[in-house]
Amino acid sequence: MRNINEDTITQAVIASMSQCENDRLRAVMTSLVQHLHAFAREVKLTEQEWFHAIRFLTEVGHITDEHRQEFVLLSDTLGLSMLVTSQNNRKPPACTEATVLGPFFVPDAPEYALGDDIANGAAGMPCFVSGSVAGIDGEPVGGAQLDVWQSDEDGFYDVQHETDADGRIVPQARGRLRTAADGTFHFRSILAEAYPIPHDGPVGKMLEALGRHPWRPAHLHFWIQAAGYEPLITHVFRDGDRYLDSDAVFGVRSSLVVDWERHEAGIAPDGTTSDTPFYTLDYRFVLNPLEETA
Ligand code: BEZ
Ligand code: FE
Repeated sequence: MRNINEDTITQAVIASMSQCENDRLRAVMTSLVQHLHAFAREVKLTEQEWFHAIRFLTEVGHITDEHRQEFVLLSDTLGLSMLVTSQNNRKPPACTEATVLGPFFVPDAPEYALGDDIANGAAGMPCFVSGSVAGIDGEPVGGAQLDVWQSDEDGFYDVQHETDADGRIVPQARGRLRTAADGTFHFRSILAEAYPIPHDGPVGKMLEALGRHPWRPAHLHFWIQAAGYEPLITHVFRDGDRYLDSDAVFGVRSSLVVDWERHEAGIAPDGTTSDTPFYTLDYRFVLNPLEETA
């Protein structure tokens, strides 16, 4: 293999992988090389631009640690995360649509009983959330596990706040609940607000250079898991938010946008008296049954 030139290089790289025993890996890498080379040819990538890209990816790597995943942000802002989510979550139209997981999910969130306040001191106006989980034929899904997480009124998730004296994250506006036997759930939290995705790193610089903003419309995250159904990772968005049509990560679906109703101070849905205005949100989730495997 000598004297490879700009016309033969793509085939040479593909041929070099012919001994790969993993068929999927070979197929994915062959396609990646084809598209990468086609891209470099199409834009006639200069050496300076190539070097700039290498420096950019190096910065993305350097800022990434166990709390900050800049590669996921890059994937999100380039629409790759949402593309992968969409093509792996095709469902019948009656089912609730999936959207991006995002970088702020935490496994093993604190467990709460229905009706509890999951805010745990997070700043924000009270919001009473209720809803139900059903199957595609309308059957209630009791005992479904709901992971819920959201930002506070300043647009920050608990994982972005200072840790406690022992270096632990204090879980706020995040929790795990189970639906009642009739598929319903309800809990108290705070009103979600629009927030910018972390933009003090290379991805933020990229957005600025491209004339883009880093904002996401206000939303509440749900990850719903129930035996016999496909897991659902999604958000519920707040109608009226100014960023619904320009979400920095392309995650908004009309079916997920609902009215979060504002109420004046007074009796709240849990029977307590709220001396401040509060919000209510109600949403019905429809899960896709798992395909039977014979
Ligand atoms: C989020 O909604 O938590 C999120 C999603 C993608 C990038 C950053 C944040
Ligand atoms: Fe979020």
